[in-house]
Order: sequence, then structure tokens, then C-alpha cells
Amino acid sequence: MANRLAWNLDALVYDFFAGQVDQQLYQDILKALGPTDGMIVDDLGCGTGNLTRLFSGTTTVRAIDLSPVAIAKTYYRTGPNVYLCSMDFYNMPPSLRPSPAPHRIVASRSLYHPDLPRSIGLLASHLRDDGIAVVAHAVPNVSQYMFPRMNGTKSFSPRQAVKAAARLSRLVGVDYRFFEAEEFERAGRQHFDAVNVELGGFGTHYVVRLQKGNLLSHQH
Ligand SMILES: C[S@@+](CC[C@H](N)C(=O)[O-])C[C@H]1O[C@@H](n2cnc3c(N)ncnc32)[C@H](O)[C@@H]1O
Repeated sequence: MANRLAWNLDALVYDFFAGQVDQQLYQDILKALGPTDGMIVDDLGCGTGNLTRLFSGTTTVRAIDLSPVAIAKTYYRTGPNVYLCSMDFYNMPPSLRPSPAPHRIVASRSLYHPDLPRSIGLLASHLRDDGIAVVAHAVPNVSQYMFPRMNGTKSFSPRQAVKAAARLSRLVGVDYRFFEAEEFERAGRQHFDAVNVELGGFGTHYVVRLQKGNLLSHQH
């Protein structure tokens, strides 16, 4: 309940604080996903649709979010290739999961449950057998988050500082957890065949690429 209220409030103000870091992060995520034309991509925690709308019209995107406010905003900024659903993806019984299983999953800044192996396991059980999931998550180090490294230089970002303040929402019972790169690697290896963790969004986020199957690159 605390989560839904918090994410509805977040969706109301989210776009005021979106900036260069977010745009760079979306590009880093898309690069990690690889080409998605003709594929089904599930966007878990799509928020206000800023990443969702960057997929080409030939990609079928199933965008899921807990917040009806976020879903409404995504609806108005995306095209007919995007299908929307407001639900908690942690409470998604197999019978209610979108079918068929997706080729790709993206979870950009939405896996805040304290049990990271559970979150990563959820992605693995939902993804196709030869699929790829990409998770983006802000780094736990607040100073690294507030000082993006742009053009090789670290500079203070007031936007990032305001967004960092949202971490205090943990004090009122909202699930809002951050994890070290090693935690993503460990949880990833439990459920996937290949795991790669890099920094994205000018060093402010981890971009975690999780792959089923042993080939280094898949087209379908
Ligand atoms: C920080 S926003 C990120 C939005 C977007 N993915 C982006 O990167 O710009 C996190 C979104 O994840 C959604 N979310 C968090 N936990 C969720 C859950 N258990 N089920 C569905 N959506 C969830 C929130 O409602 C919120 O809109």
C-alpha cells in the first residue's frame, strides 16, 4: 500500500526531474538489450514511459506498472505497439503473466524489493529460454549518484541530489533498496547463464545484462 501511494506521487513529479543522466541511461539500456525489432519486450516498472517510448514501432512492448498514474502517462506518450497493464509484478502468478514469454525484459530502476535474488529469479522465470533481461539500478553510493561523470569530469547535479532525497522514503516503509555490483552478479549467476554488470547513465547506475543460454549474442 505504501509502495503504490509512493509510486503514484512519484509519477506525478517524475518528469520534472528527468534530465541528461536519464537520457544517457536509456541509451545504455537499449544498447545492452541489443536490437529488438519484431520482438516482445516486457518493460517492468515502465513509470511514465520515458524509456518505453524509445522502442521502435516494430517492437511489441508490454509495459507494466504498479501506479495507475504512471500507466496513464505512458498511454498518452506511446503508440499502438505498446500494451499497458497496472499490476504489481511481484504478485504476478504464472496464469496472469503476459503470454507468450518475452524475448527481452527491461526493469529500469524498478527492482526495489529487499530480496534481490527473488527479483532476479522472477525475471528468469518469466523470460524465454534464450532471452535477455536488462536491469538498471542506481548505485548505492550517494555521492557517485549526485556527481555524474560527464565528458570525463565529475560535476554536481542538483537534479540527481533531489532524486537522491527520495531514498528517505524507506523511513516510511516504502521498499526502496540499493545493491552493490557484487550482489547483482551473485543473484544473476543463481538464475542466468551469463551476467555482465557495467556502469551507465554517466556512472550513476548499474546496467546489468542477464542472459539465458551460453551464446554471447542472440538476435532472436
Ligand atoms: C523510478 S521509476 C522508473 C520508471 C522508468 N522505468 C524509468 O527508468 O524511467 C520506478 C517505477 O517502477 C514501478 N514499480 C516499482 N515496483 C513495482 C512493482 N512491484 N510492480 C509494478 N511496478 C513497480 C513504480 O510504480 C515506478 O513507476
